[in-house]
Amino acid sequence: MSRIRVQTGGKLYLAGEYAVLTPGQTAIIQPIPIKMTAQVSPSSRLQLQSDMFDYAVDMTPDQGYALIQESVATVAELLEQPVADLPPFQLSISGKLEKDGNKFGIGSSGSVTVLTIKALAAFYNLSISKDQLFKLSSYTLLKLGDKGSMGDLACIVYEELIAYTSFDRLALSSMLLEKSFKELMAMDWGYEIVTLKTNLKADFLVGWTAQPVLSSQMIRDVKSAISVNFLDQTQQQVLSLQTALKAGDQQMVKYSLEIISDLLASLSPAIYTDKLLLLKKASQGLDAVAKSSGAGGGDCGIALSFHPNATRILKKRWQEAGITILYQERWE
Ligand code: PMV
Ligand code: MG
Repeated sequence: MSRIRVQTGGKLYLAGEYAVLTPGQTAIIQPIPIKMTAQVSPSSRLQLQSDMFDYAVDMTPDQGYALIQESVATVAELLEQPVADLPPFQLSISGKLEKDGNKFGIGSSGSVTVLTIKALAAFYNLSISKDQLFKLSSYTLLKLGDKGSMGDLACIVYEELIAYTSFDRLALSSMLLEKSFKELMAMDWGYEIVTLKTNLKADFLVGWTAQPVLSSQMIRDVKSAISVNFLDQTQQQVLSLQTALKAGDQQMVKYSLEIISDLLASLSPAIYTDKLLLLKKASQGLDAVAKSSGAGGGDCGIALSFHPNATRILKKRWQEAGITILYQERWE
């Protein structure tokens, strides 16, 4: 067993947030290549270390390290051995997705889960497919009682723009007790992950509000407002966005994202904070579209801009509103 170095990135929702919490609904999610790194090396005893914390741990339960420890436990299940019987290693994780103690909100908890499993699988010479990596990561979060759609994991695993259709996590969680690990991994969970090749010409921009918010808290507050009408209308626009991205149809992309943004705004006033409202309004009158991304209530928003002038003005407006440009890329 030699030294291993592995990376994972972040993700941001373009569309379908909240709706995708309902099984069978689709979200479109974009990878963000701001990376975390894991290094694994053989060691005399198991040690886990992350730059999120100023202390290292072993497998003695620790709240800060719960995600990493549960990911280690998942790999042990895959190896069909208790953690204590595995050749010991030292795992060190760096590149926390934050600045001055404020998280970016681009999926650090999902990223650290995928990262740990990917790194240890490589360390133990297991070759696992992307689909398996997604299932193992989802399984890990389900064991911890996570209430998310797992769309973040799908995007972080595939590292491509994806359309993710969610599975029934409640049904799967109840199976955790009834079925063996092997049976669960062999089952069809009923999700779908489609990688999207877009022909859209645009600048893709990420604006960071520097206002951290817990998605789990937002989900708790907003979930009861999700109606059949919201789901149907969002799904319709997500599918039309998917078509528009493929066709490179700027006006249809803009139209779908505007409607999805309005649907989110009417779902709960907690989603569009003052800063996210400014982020969105910055696209007004421009050949561009901007919206809140993910749970909202802070974190990030995204924009697609179809003209260099629009990009320039939008970025200027964001700066004036105190919104940091976290990431930018050109779609051709
Ligand atoms: O804020 P984010 O990027 O973690 O996205 C949350 C998206 C939700 O649909 C609200 C929750 C989920 O897990 O899908
Ligand atoms: Mg968020």
